[in-house]
Amino acid sequence: MIDLSPKIQEALNNQIANEGFASNFYLALAYWCDDQALEGCKKFFLRQAEEERMHMMKIYEYMSESGVHPKTSAIPQVPIEYSNIQEAFKKVFDQERSVTQSIHNLLSLAMEENDYNTQQFLQWYVDEQREEEAVIRTILDRIRIIGDGAQSLYYIDKEIEKINMTVIASASNQNGE
Ligand code: FEO
Repeated sequence: MIDLSPKIQEALNNQIANEGFASNFYLALAYWCDDQALEGCKKFFLRQAEEERMHMMKIYEYMSESGVHPKTSAIPQVPIEYSNIQEAFKKVFDQERSVTQSIHNLLSLAMEENDYNTQQFLQWYVDEQREEEAVIRTILDRIRIIGDGAQSLYYIDKEIEKINMTVIASASNQNGE
């Protein structure tokens, strides 16, 4: 059994809600893309939604292993409409930046509280956020290069599908599959 201070418990419960929000955010985006006939983007966002759910579940498990009952809080409504895919990816970047900030705040709190187990646990999230931000930056760069000509949507969608396959392959390699 690991001791988690009340402050850390509250912050972890908040992070459960943040990761749940992120999962719903991507799920809503996937079906916005479905409406726009952007199949490559839809697959990318569906995989992201699953990943975020896994991020959330890891916190449930960590709290439970520590002998604490995790809270399942209400998750605010996520955005469901976007003007275009360029705007959608900019919002994705902002969303990931805000999750990164909340992980960093949590880590600072764990340091203040001399909670070494939580610091160790959060390190995985620090790495994961860095990788996620890097992927979204790559996508924003590609979108900029492709531009917004008549066929840009077709090429953006193909490019995102390729990036999605690369992320899947890299995750399989890391898991030794
Ligand atoms: Fe788990 Fe990308 O936030």
